[in-house]
Amino acid sequence: MVHQVRNPWTAQGRNLAIQKAVAEIYGRYFQKGPRWIAKHLPQRTEMMDWSGRVSSETAEILLGDFGVESFIEDYAQMATLASGDSHATRQIYTQWVFDETRHSKALWYCLVDSGLRTQAEMDEYLYQCGQDIWTFEKQTGHEVTPERGAAYAIAQERQTKRNYREMQKRIWVEYGQPTNADGRPTYPAIAGVCGILAADEGFHEGVFREITRAYLKYWPDKALQAMWDVYERYRMPLVKLPNAEAFLEAVLSTGIDSGRQVVAEILQPTYEASGLKSRAAVRKAAKNSWDLPEGAVIQVGDKPFEEWSEGAIPHSMNSDGTFTRLVPTASKT
Ligand SMILES: [Fe+2]
Ligand SMILES: [Fe+2]
Repeated sequence: MVHQVRNPWTAQGRNLAIQKAVAEIYGRYFQKGPRWIAKHLPQRTEMMDWSGRVSSETAEILLGDFGVESFIEDYAQMATLASGDSHATRQIYTQWVFDETRHSKALWYCLVDSGLRTQAEMDEYLYQCGQDIWTFEKQTGHEVTPERGAAYAIAQERQTKRNYREMQKRIWVEYGQPTNADGRPTYPAIAGVCGILAADEGFHEGVFREITRAYLKYWPDKALQAMWDVYERYRMPLVKLPNAEAFLEAVLSTGIDSGRQVVAEILQPTYEASGLKSRAAVRKAAKNSWDLPEGAVIQVGDKPFEEWSEGAIPHSMNSDGTFTRLVPTASKT
């Protein structure tokens, strides 16, 4: 009994450990993360030279991507709710919202600078997007919490990253596959911007992965339940786009997104990054985590066994969703 009172792995102790980890993740992101400004993108001056080559389907998809990115205020609202009173989490989300705002601006410049859409058309489109509201509840069927927000974001960021990479390739082909003197592909104008957006989304995916791993480590049952909640019925952002029909038609014609691809290329790698081999394993681990003893923590990744403070009961999580209790080495005093 006395031991339990002294156990730092209470809700408060776990929270503190997670906040510390999130603050470190933010520090690294802030130091290494991308710092471009949409208005000053050098690709803007190249847009007119290439605009005649962009297909109408591609323009429709870029407009739809702009639409999805324009819902940033709703994601910001989610972020505010998910941060609660945690300073570290709020910092991460503030940076993230800034980055995402840059994306819609960059796409706006791509379409307008290239003459693919007029400013008036963009205004009207943006206004219509503003009539719908995205919510985390509608999207996932669950109330937002920091751990659910992070778990959901891994998949969404990964999917947008993949989307911009595919767009970059597609536009490169439409541009006539330009190369430099060595024969290596070059990505001017919109192709270049899509590459920058994809890199950003990759950074975001990494950040939310790290946060989820921190939850997994210090609060396994909570993290696994959150993953189960949001991946069970995962789908792309549920927003009403004014060009929904044309967008969908254009996307389908490219084969960029299909249900099977989402499972294979988005969800599966997400499970694997958390050390689980399948959706069934996530479910199994979530269920098994209910039976973990008080004070259970998870050794994440292959890193050598770290010294846990007193009261921690380290386990490793196996890829099939089972847990193995680790024999503790010398504990910290
Ligand atoms: Fe984005
Ligand atoms: Fe993102």
